[in-house]
Amino acid sequence: MMKARCLLRAPYSSSPLVSSTLHRFCKPGNKFASQNHTLAFSSSVSSSSVSPISSSPSPLSSHHKPQVPLFLRPPIYSATLSDLTNFFNWGKTLASSVGSSFEQIDNGPDATLLLRELKWFLDDAVEDSSLILHLGTPQNERFLSMEVRLRAGLDQIYQLWKQRIEERRPLQYIVGCEHWRDLVLSVEEGVLIPRPETEKIVDLVEDVVGKCGVLREGLWVDLGTGSGALAVGIARVLGKSGKLIATDLSPVAVAVARYNVERYGLQGSIEVRQGSWFDPLMDLEGELAGMVSNPPYIPSKDISGLQAEVGKHEPGLALDGGVEGMDHLIYLCMRTSTMLKPGGFFAFETNGEKQCNLLAHYLENAAGSNFRDVSIVSDFAGILRFVTGYRK
Ligand SMILES: C[S@@+](CC[C@H](N)C(=O)[O-])C[C@H]1O[C@@H](n2cnc3c(N)ncnc32)[C@H](O)[C@@H]1O
Repeated sequence: MMKARCLLRAPYSSSPLVSSTLHRFCKPGNKFASQNHTLAFSSSVSSSSVSPISSSPSPLSSHHKPQVPLFLRPPIYSATLSDLTNFFNWGKTLASSVGSSFEQIDNGPDATLLLRELKWFLDDAVEDSSLILHLGTPQNERFLSMEVRLRAGLDQIYQLWKQRIEERRPLQYIVGCEHWRDLVLSVEEGVLIPRPETEKIVDLVEDVVGKCGVLREGLWVDLGTGSGALAVGIARVLGKSGKLIATDLSPVAVAVARYNVERYGLQGSIEVRQGSWFDPLMDLEGELAGMVSNPPYIPSKDISGLQAEVGKHEPGLALDGGVEGMDHLIYLCMRTSTMLKPGGFFAFETNGEKQCNLLAHYLENAAGSNFRDVSIVSDFAGILRFVTGYRK
């Protein structure tokens, strides 16, 4: 079945404390609007190396087993259509009771969006998702007694939806995946849910490698890879000859990124290394053709004002950028010229205009004139978001 899912997620920089204009958007003509995500993933990863979806946060262990997204789990549970209709009606009532209260508190989702999410949740939980269309419409007894195959037990389905509303647990953590560009990436607690604005970095890389074969064939890095979204997106753009190293400090992120790399069959192109920023790349000083990063950039004081789905559930390690939000960005820029080879390209994501201006100024001045063509690039919503350039 064709999916039309756009979670209209707020960029995490869109806390009311940061900017009320940076909120919810969905890229026009979003590529995943017609994506059948069950086809997007390869099923080559052995099920023994991953865990089923849990309803509690993952432990931080270096032997972390990533969770299997709900839509990939076997449909080993069942319920009657009547039971599922009861769940659907209960879930709708719970979602409707939210009204616009979350929106007023912290710019969170309103009832309309939550009702849409309820359908997407069932879309992933029910094996034959065409049945969802019939829930809530009058049906005869025979139809209601039909058995439906489910990917989670009905009790767990109730529990997960309660968590969505009462704990404001993001839907992506509940279903264990996020649609991003033409990908469906596994995500779970401990890993940032990739945002639509970050997709543009892949487009920027596609542009530069389209103009320069040397960059296409060189070695790229994605620093702070999280789910591996940028790494997987860029490796697909680089093509067969592409080589990329993705790094992250978080063991959960490293495990999830490796899982996503394997699911897309990119083990030959992407290596995932654990460690702080350039520490795992000391062997590659001056050898990188390209460097991208979406580092933590929220000013520390703004974290407490973030939408609950973000501030309460997404990892602080992925969000907190220090007092002005620039600690990691400046640190990365300080090392960019020694890590890139001459002519190498970089792209950094920021919180918005102010950080872009500060960073561009730093790269053009304090960083010792090592760069050329430093540019500020806007995201799909027209917000100045990225700083790009080349090493001289
Ligand atoms: C804003 S998230 C971006 C994740 C992913 N690249 C994306 O765009 O969805 C920042 C990432 O940086 C990682 N990180 C934070 N501090 C780090 C450090 N010192 N070294 C390496 N990675 C770090 C976090 O674990 C997180 O995965």
